Amino acid sequence: MQQEREGVMTGTADVLIVGGGAIGLAIALTLRQRGATVTVLSRDFAEAASHVAAGMLAPGAEGIPPGPFRDLCDRSLAAYGDWANKLETLTGKEIGYWPSGILAPRFSPDAAKAPTPSAQWLEPGAIAAYQAGLADDVAGAWWHPDEGQVDNRAMTHALRVAAQEAGVRLEEGVTVQSFQQRLQQDQSRIQRLQTTAGEFQAGHYVLATGAWANDLLPVPVVPIKGQMAAVQVPPGYPHAQPLRRVLFGENIYIVPRRSGRIVLGATSEPVGFTPGNTPKGLTHLFQKASHLYPALQDFPVQECWWGFRPGTPDEMPILGPGPCANLTLATGHYRNGILLTPITAALIADAVMGQPDPLLAAFSWERFQRSRPTSSTPLVFSAPQSPMHTLDRTVSNPSNNLGQPQDAPLTIAGRTFRSRLMTGSGKYSNFDVMRQAIAASGCEIVTVAVRRVQTNAPGHEGLAEALDWQRVWMLPNTAGCKTAEEAIRVARLGREMAKLLGQEDNNFVKLEVIPDSKYLLPDPIGTLEAAEQLVKEGFAVLPYINSDPLLAKRLEEVGCATVMPLGSPIGSGQGIRNAANIQIIIENATVPVVVDAGIGAPSEAAAAMEMGAAALLINTAIAKAENPVAMGRAMGLATEAGRLAYLAGRIPIQGQAIASSPLTGRITDV
Ligand code: GLY
Repeated sequence: MQQEREGVMTGTADVLIVGGGAIGLAIALTLRQRGATVTVLSRDFAEAASHVAAGMLAPGAEGIPPGPFRDLCDRSLAAYGDWANKLETLTGKEIGYWPSGILAPRFSPDAAKAPTPSAQWLEPGAIAAYQAGLADDVAGAWWHPDEGQVDNRAMTHALRVAAQEAGVRLEEGVTVQSFQQRLQQDQSRIQRLQTTAGEFQAGHYVLATGAWANDLLPVPVVPIKGQMAAVQVPPGYPHAQPLRRVLFGENIYIVPRRSGRIVLGATSEPVGFTPGNTPKGLTHLFQKASHLYPALQDFPVQECWWGFRPGTPDEMPILGPGPCANLTLATGHYRNGILLTPITAALIADAVMGQPDPLLAAFSWERFQRSRPTSSTPLVFSAPQSPMHTLDRTVSNPSNNLGQPQDAPLTIAGRTFRSRLMTGSGKYSNFDVMRQAIAASGCEIVTVAVRRVQTNAPGHEGLAEALDWQRVWMLPNTAGCKTAEEAIRVARLGREMAKLLGQEDNNFVKLEVIPDSKYLLPDPIGTLEAAEQLVKEGFAVLPYINSDPLLAKRLEEVGCATVMPLGSPIGSGQGIRNAANIQIIIENATVPVVVDAGIGAPSEAAAAMEMGAAALLINTAIAKAENPVAMGRAMGLATEAGRLAYLAGRIPIQGQAIASSPLTGRITDV
């Protein structure tokens, strides 16, 4: 269904799938076949890893050890024949499913135990019966009789056709910019997607964006580049296709198609999204392939290409219920997306329909969390908890939850935080005091000036290493940037810095574009420009702004994760000088409003929280206090007290006194 609303094209569906690779399309088809209205949003179908893969179905040859992951792969392999058959019948298109068996030749005798129970070791003399023409120095081979291949491009194309014919709406050329979330009855839900083609809404959302998943959610999925090539058996050759098996060699695989094409793969390079084939990559492929199967060195090269596998830290996919109640994840398939397509489609469709298979538990996003959320803290990738903060809570609140209204955690770009105080790392007399003050404040987010750290500005030498990033979440900031361009560049450096310090999935940036050095007031136009670009690049943008409600709204509309209006100029300690405007921003925002700059005393921190600010950022008032550690603690307590007061609801202000005891119902003289 499509509606025109105030000039914005809005799409609605039961299920919205972000990602048009084999995984997204197969899930879409399965859900559609089960009766759902489904839309698939894809930036570029040809960009998906499924398009650039070789199509091996190779759990044993890939050396996947026994366990839930191997079970998942084996279930998918066992289902492949039927699944492929159905897809071909549905579309009338061949997808090249070929259970040819995989031969894994070795150049040194491999007496080690079988890589998989069903694999069989072949001595050199036995190999020719399976495949003739291998290198003379092959010392034996593992034979995986149950494995094989599918023509991944033909399969992905057939999935598109089948999905379209079944009534799935496919939207190509649409980039999703952000998921917009809202808390409802203590659960976070996705409200809509902001895209380059307007807003899209659905009852349920599936994230299937492969290597790009981290652009939208802080999941630890990173691109692992693979370079590939194909040669073609020349016309007039004695056999149209002399290879009868997939060859899985040492750092090379050779995948023959019945058409005479032979696919060679693949490098494995952690180089981010660096595009292009390189001489080194192609030399590797051609040398290794020519050694293993010498005949192909004279076959004409047909194509060279590259793609990005969605890698995860444990090389297993991320599947199943996501961090929001109406979000399911299907990403991170790394080297096995084509193999896992049938099982992923079936299990994800079950999960979306509310019947998650127990096997999914092993693939939950929660395995990457440092601390698991409870059911009342539904959101995502909670930051490492500060033990200091937990301790404070126990001491100051001995009677459990008495007087503690239920509160959702602070959620920014899908990540949750218990503390609503953010602090800075500048202006401390030394790192020890900084560490203690930060710990005493209980804060879980610390902002770091990327530029000052990178240039070793005074007081910043070694600063980034001085904090324990296992405990606090880094908020790189673009302090010192006068223009949008500078801020964008520094934000990118900040992301690299966070990665280097172990926060692989940190895409946060506190955006500061400040041309004026006297009052340090931010440039609204430059900030908006930089925010738009950084959101497109997948950053969770936290812009520092003057307290301008219209600008705040515009920034929210372009996909910023928060807005951070200033209370008064940075470091001035003047408190909240623009409460009325901040109040308007708070009333209108659907993203967290973080009051930043100017707070000088805990009473002002509490006042900002009482107004309904979602969080505060305080640096100078702590770092420059006579006793920064005590002030850190005071600010932490004030933030908490202010929040509690906001939730408790203050009494209205009256123009006259009202007696504390009621005048009615009293015992009176008669
Ligand atoms: N599945 C083989 C690869 O990712 O290179």
